[in-house]
Amino acid sequence: MKTILITGATGFLGGAVTVNLLKKEEAHTLLLLVRSRSAEEGLARVRANLAKFGLSAQQLAQLTPENILSGDLAAPAQFLDDARLDSVTHVLNCAAVASFGNNPLIWKVNVEGTFRLASRMSRVAGLQRFIHVGTAMSCAPQANTLVTENELDTLRDQHIVEYTWSKATVEKMMLESLPTLPLVIARPSIVVGHSRHGCSPSPSIFWVFRMALALGEFMCELEDRIDVVPVDYCADALELLLNAEQIEKTIIHISAGENSSVTFAEIDRAMARASGQLPLGDRYQKVNYRQLSESKSRFPALFGPCNERIVLRAMKLYGHFSRLNVVFSNEKLLALGMPPSSKFTDYLHHCVASTRDATLAELMEVDFK
Ligand SMILES: NC(=O)c1ccc[n+]([C@@H]2O[C@H](COP(=O)([O-])OP(=O)(O)OC[C@H]3O[C@@H](n4cnc5c(N)ncnc54)[C@H](OP(=O)(O)O)[C@@H]3O)[C@@H](O)[C@H]2O)c1
Repeated sequence: MKTILITGATGFLGGAVTVNLLKKEEAHTLLLLVRSRSAEEGLARVRANLAKFGLSAQQLAQLTPENILSGDLAAPAQFLDDARLDSVTHVLNCAAVASFGNNPLIWKVNVEGTFRLASRMSRVAGLQRFIHVGTAMSCAPQANTLVTENELDTLRDQHIVEYTWSKATVEKMMLESLPTLPLVIARPSIVVGHSRHGCSPSPSIFWVFRMALALGEFMCELEDRIDVVPVDYCADALELLLNAEQIEKTIIHISAGENSSVTFAEIDRAMARASGQLPLGDRYQKVNYRQLSESKSRFPALFGPCNERIVLRAMKLYGHFSRLNVVFSNEKLLALGMPPSSKFTDYLHHCVASTRDATLAELMEVDFK
């Protein structure tokens, strides 16, 4: 029987994969690392998150305080001595400071704390697999390319934000310094919404599309492609990686790939359909950051109450990513038997419906912690 340590179960991806495992008939023990003062508080935090994925009270009741390991990756010494870690057979490491902001904990958690956890787990005799969730952006991809898993760039000046640099660095450290760790690195591309629940679990990144289309201008071309997967696809893929045979030391994208990635023009049309409006089409304009900043006075009317400076900063960061026009190859994942992802435009209407009553400022908070 597997004993699975999951980190990040109060978050988007970690929550989705925990939901998958709780729905399984197959017996396994879950141990969830959660930031909390007590197991009871941690349990309440996890349950509140999993409820957003539509889990029933009965399914949530399967979790008890025994499933919780209270701990903080910013202070790993406080939980790494817990004897329950010695029984773990599989790790799904989803926790990270996944912020494009200047969060002072990014390096401490994503590099130092994560490496300490991986080192500790590499000494567990029965450990069969350590799945580390990285990000496809950790390779700092060249614009207009089909990106394969071989690439990784750990030079700071190649990264737009500290977050992707931290993720690239810890991958390199684990690969080079922990030869006995049964490591699999899963690199999701851009995770937006849930294919049935839309943005109820999290509005992460969805607000960027809404913001750009409401403004009618952004830094990419309408024909540029973007590689988006729904969080439930990502969770299914992580579950597959938990069980797949002979994949140690594999680095694998969880991505839409060439067939399921979409253009911004397709997103424009899907967003219009879902909102009962006309697509922007030719009215859309590709602009640079200076031109975006000149539109500042229109923000409150378009987006509702918001901090214009923060919105502009978000546009600058996400604008850089939007114009990369990259697709992440999903051939390795498909070869393991994973079906292709649904397209963002196939479930975007659920994202629109689940965010209709929220302001941009409320939605973007999740990505600027
Ligand atoms: N979302 C995407 O588009 C995307 C794309 C590619 C890769 N990824 C990767 O996927 C993973 C999960 O991302 P996500 O979108 O699910 O992020 P998220 O919703 O922000 O969740 C992050 C999780 O990490 C936990 N965490 C943060 N700091 C911690 C600490 N000091 N100690 C313990 N746990 C901590 C959070 O716990 P709290 O609730 O206590 O804050 C939360 O459970 C990350 O590794 C990210 O790099 C995400």
